[in-house]
Amino acid sequence: MCGIVGVTGTPDALEIVLDGIERLEYRGYDSAGVALVGSWGLWRARAADGTRSLEKLRKITEDAPPATAGIGHTRWATHGHPTEHNAHPHTDCSGDVAVVHNGIVENWYELAQELRQAGHTLESETDTEIVAHLVESALAGGVGLKEAVRMTLGSLRGAFSLAVVCAAEPETIVAARRVSPLVVGLVDPDGDSPGAGMLASDIPALLGSTRALWALDDDQVAEIGPGTLRVTSFEGEVVEPVSLHVEWDLEAAQKSGYDDFMSKEMHEQPRAVADTLLDRVSPEGSILVDEGRIGRRDLLGVDKVVIAACGSSYHAGLVAKYAIERWARLPTEVDIASEFRYRDPVLGQATLVIGVSQSGETIDTLQAMRQAKREGARILVISNVVDSSMAREADGVFYTRAGPEIGVAATKTLLTQIVSLEILALYLADMRGTLERSQIREALGELGRLPEAIGEVLGREGDVAAVAKRFGSTRDFFYLGRHVGYPVAMEGALKLKELAYVRAEAYPAGELKHGPIALIEPGSVVIGVATRTSLREKMLANIAEVKSRGATVVLVANDGDTDTARHADAVLYTPKASELVAPVIDTVPLQLFAYHLARFHGHDVDRPRNLAKTVTVE
Ligand code: AGP
Repeated sequence: MCGIVGVTGTPDALEIVLDGIERLEYRGYDSAGVALVGSWGLWRARAADGTRSLEKLRKITEDAPPATAGIGHTRWATHGHPTEHNAHPHTDCSGDVAVVHNGIVENWYELAQELRQAGHTLESETDTEIVAHLVESALAGGVGLKEAVRMTLGSLRGAFSLAVVCAAEPETIVAARRVSPLVVGLVDPDGDSPGAGMLASDIPALLGSTRALWALDDDQVAEIGPGTLRVTSFEGEVVEPVSLHVEWDLEAAQKSGYDDFMSKEMHEQPRAVADTLLDRVSPEGSILVDEGRIGRRDLLGVDKVVIAACGSSYHAGLVAKYAIERWARLPTEVDIASEFRYRDPVLGQATLVIGVSQSGETIDTLQAMRQAKREGARILVISNVVDSSMAREADGVFYTRAGPEIGVAATKTLLTQIVSLEILALYLADMRGTLERSQIREALGELGRLPEAIGEVLGREGDVAAVAKRFGSTRDFFYLGRHVGYPVAMEGALKLKELAYVRAEAYPAGELKHGPIALIEPGSVVIGVATRTSLREKMLANIAEVKSRGATVVLVANDGDTDTARHADAVLYTPKASELVAPVIDTVPLQLFAYHLARFHGHDVDRPRNLAKTVTVE
């Protein structure tokens, strides 16, 4: 998830683009860049220094030529390291065409091959640069910028919003959208200024200049000039874009109208999971992992998997254990990273150690990876941050594509971690021949249906909020689950502790009668994960045990499962899914429950007390 912005028709083009980048930094901050066009040609500047990128760019652009048109970008790296040569805008061979892009061009690799064969020189590792060269080829055919961009769009697959400028048409910006969001705007003429035309990935970038805003729909192209805007379909038919009425102030806009980043990020989960699933399966049906020095041959020799992580990432590891053992028949251990290091684990060349970390910087997990490496294990990292320390030091990396997560509580990154680890489990199963291709396709089909199912649960937020408010005065909660429902219960309990500041303990439901049930009394609140898994009957028996001791019971149950609902005082319903995939869906109502209880207590859900987003101290 990156941020793009563009403006034409004002002498303040550079300032407006730089401010627009700043207002989109919540979408990514690995690098920043601008391209300005004028009668003198095209001028580009880029900086890649993490959260200091924009500051550096502002410095560099002090020497920028005067310009009335420009485009800009703030990056969240997915394809290619967060370096300057991978920073946007990307240009063509002549340097007269520049592109900024948000999204993923799925077929970039094939197109890059074709461009190289046609004599183009590609400088970066990104999927985006091919767009600049494709536009260059079309322009060479004698068409104008708008036509050249439209011709290029025809050969792109994937999700993208992009903007293109060229030195030959210094007042024109051509932008296009498929899936990734794009907003356009107009600034009224004022005095002898003809007015300006603008575009951005999101409203905050334009709010400082205008409220005359429109949203592009999928497969639409915008030709933007000084005070002019013309929107057509990819086929060239003129269309009326969706007019936007925005009352939000800037901060609200960065949260897309949600009250806080956590709520926004929970509602981004369908897209985050869909993006994480994108281009993971080759046309031949084999599964693709991101990069690194780990190949099929290395993984073929693996005889044990050890997952090390902290917090929510540890819970993702616990779910993955069930999937790797069932699908790939590989023994899998899961460790809390701060314990892993000091238990003198038995590792070797044939051990695959997987570090799971959204930030890729958590010191306990990083140190655990370093120790495992010293002991000869192969290191694979699941991270949400391209080129994080763990990613750089690992033998192989699998990037979740959740986009930046601002709220301290992990939500979308956890779901994308589970999905990534399950793709990996299928990859290992495929390689080891422990699953038929048809079984793998079926499991991939199940994963592919997750975005819609998650969306359905998010649509029931009001119901969950109503249940949560019933427990506003409760200070102790028990979370129960069996099989993969147990890590889901652990995640639910963690969310409640870190957001609502109430005591919440999670137990494998079968373990309760070995002690903890002594704590159950009338008024105790038990939250159970009782969706249709192979152990549901046993789970309901455990629920009956606590019910008989006076507990109030809230159950996560599948739609229409009235039998399970009979055992509960309140039910959080979820669509049914296969056992190993269900945790991705069943976690969502527990996120919402904790969120609404925290809001009920008036807590700052984005910055809970005593916590940090990335824990870099032991
Ligand atoms: C979860 O909501 C917390 N933010 C925390 O437990 C987190 O999962 C843990 O610190 C691990 O962080 P990481 O994924 O960046 O390594």
